[in-house]
Amino acid sequence: MTAGRIISIINHKGGVGKTTTAVSLGEALAREGLRVLVVDLDSQCNATDMLLPGRAFALSAFDVLNPAQGELRPEDCVQPTDIPGLDCLPNRHDSIYLEPGLIAMGPEGFRLFRERLQAFLRAAYDLTLIDNPPNLGTFVAGALLASDYAIVPCDAGSLASLRGFSNALDFIEEIRENGNPDLRFLKGLVTRVDRRTSVWKTIIEEKTAEMGEDWVFRTVIPMNTDFQRAEYSGRTIFQVRPGAPGARAYRELARELLAVLGMAPCNS
Ligand SMILES: Nc1ncnc2c1ncn2[C@@H]1O[C@H](COP(=O)(O)OP(=O)(O)OP(=O)(O)O)[C@@H](O)[C@H]1O
Ligand SMILES: [Mg+2]
Repeated sequence: MTAGRIISIINHKGGVGKTTTAVSLGEALAREGLRVLVVDLDSQCNATDMLLPGRAFALSAFDVLNPAQGELRPEDCVQPTDIPGLDCLPNRHDSIYLEPGLIAMGPEGFRLFRERLQAFLRAAYDLTLIDNPPNLGTFVAGALLASDYAIVPCDAGSLASLRGFSNALDFIEEIRENGNPDLRFLKGLVTRVDRRTSVWKTIIEEKTAEMGEDWVFRTVIPMNTDFQRAEYSGRTIFQVRPGAPGARAYRELARELLAVLGMAPCNS
């Protein structure tokens, strides 16, 4: 059995679909028969709220990232979701207060996540998707130090999210040069596409002229209010409306991702 891969989902900019991608892609991959973990590294806890609504848990990403925490079994920190094959490492809002202590520790603080979790993630899951906060700070650095790949979602209608995309690429390069030479930018993902406008096509064309056509997944994620509907009801889009355009797009993205990684779906 090959070691599981670890993918960070990052963008400097907020609201571009990072959490939606981690949760929906995670669910789509689990539905393809893979063992998948979504790690919530954002103290906003949006992925936790979507995957473990109203659930109590004793251990979380807080404990993994807490320098004062003693011996910890990673398997005690992950929770099964209602979706077969999909687990979640939840987070707590107060994890944000761990950041100054981690910074004060220097490089060891950045490496804590990798040291405590990476071997377990590789052994227990085919794919781990890490949902990151909208910054390029300590937690994101820690996630990238533990990751094989980074996916950078971009909001199709937002120029600021493209700027966030460029910042994310520079940050990935920094981490490659300073601690994780194996890290690779996998692809960008264009999200929230409104097909009534052509802005998103311009964005794709401009970046393609600059970076070549491999920079981005061919699958784009359409603007779809079913995502909000799902969020409000504390469920995922697949649970609320599996035939929704957004659900279909993430299913297609899951297959494209497996092809890009040279991995086969398990239930085909
Ligand atoms: N394709 C889409 N169509 C419509 N709404 C979407 C789509 N993708 C995400 N959204 C909605 O946009 C909002 C922001 O998305 P999301 O939380 O995934 O972004 P984020 O990048 O994780 O944000 P943050 O940076 O705050 O963590 C959410 O309300 C989500 O339901
Ligand atoms: Mg988010």
